[in-house]
Amino acid sequence: MLGVDEAPNMVQAKALVKRFGGFEAVRGIDVEVRRGEAFGFLGPNGAGKSSTMRMIACVSPRSDGDLRVLGMDPDVEGPRIRARLGVVPQQDNLDTELTVRQNLQVYARYFGLSRARARSKADELLEFAQLSDRADAEVDPLSGGMKRRLTIARSLVNEPELLLLDEPTTGLDPQARHLLWDRLFRLKAQGVTLIVTTHYMDEAEQLCDRLVVMDAGRIVAEGSPAELIARYSTREVLELRFPPGQEVPAETFADLAERVEALPDRVLLYTAAGESALEQVHARGWRPLSSLVRRSTLEDVFLRLTGRTLVD
Ligand SMILES: Nc1ncnc2c1ncn2[C@@H]1O[C@H](COP(=O)(O)OP(=O)(O)O)[C@@H](O)[C@H]1O
Ligand SMILES: [Mg+2]
Repeated sequence: MLGVDEAPNMVQAKALVKRFGGFEAVRGIDVEVRRGEAFGFLGPNGAGKSSTMRMIACVSPRSDGDLRVLGMDPDVEGPRIRARLGVVPQQDNLDTELTVRQNLQVYARYFGLSRARARSKADELLEFAQLSDRADAEVDPLSGGMKRRLTIARSLVNEPELLLLDEPTTGLDPQARHLLWDRLFRLKAQGVTLIVTTHYMDEAEQLCDRLVVMDAGRIVAEGSPAELIARYSTREVLELRFPPGQEVPAETFADLAERVEALPDRVLLYTAAGESALEQVHARGWRPLSSLVRRSTLEDVFLRLTGRTLVD
């Protein structure tokens, strides 16, 4: 039998199900997260990402299927698993009655650190979260990015080997997101395994070594960002915008691309060579309001798999 520390995977789920009454939020998913990787759940709101994360975090029991976290069964060894996890829930749940530093110290005391050790741990994590100059400030007036960094700092108090982050950057401005991504890269470089949920394809592309695309409780694709794009999309995409009211059916450009998608506000031509497709469009007398040639993204993968965009 394998000892806990030789467990091959940080998370191993087979046919994992979460039901709320008669509703299946997670509909039999298989997931394998390896030590040291950054693993992502990418999907729109309602896909079942948080429900999955809460089962992995051992705060919500599974309804069916099998789940092992750090080689253990959450139903049996929840507390032992939780002691080795860091959890950043979708909604910050900081204690607004306490200062920034106190939030970390109180949490450290929960984990059994001595008063002195809790204080030095808090200082170290404030430094890591770039919040040292806010140590004695109240939590409420902090920006969204600072609150998120404090929640992440708090999740690191017990030096977890597996960190779960549920939508770490939702609602943050680009600068705050990049700052946060930088901190997550550092953790990964230190050997912490990361599991991230997001509905931002750029976040998934930036952070994740491997990811699953989730939709309506199911996994619809799995791989590295590059693999998924290679498998489900083309190298480039030509985006055409036409004046409002001008009907341009997808078939119009069917022979210019591997695939054409007509969205309410754009027509997308999936092709290896966007610029030459654009020349053809012009040569045929079409005059779009604007045109853009870009590389394929995970958003294109999701659209291909579900017929919908990731963020509505
Ligand atoms: N406690 C709950 N009771 C009933 N339905 C829930 C509960 N939590 C989540 N759901 C439903 O399960 C589905 C998946 O939710 P969730 O896991 O939060 O998705 P995501 O995190 O991807 O947005 C949604 O339809 C949501 O309304
Ligand atoms: Mg969620």
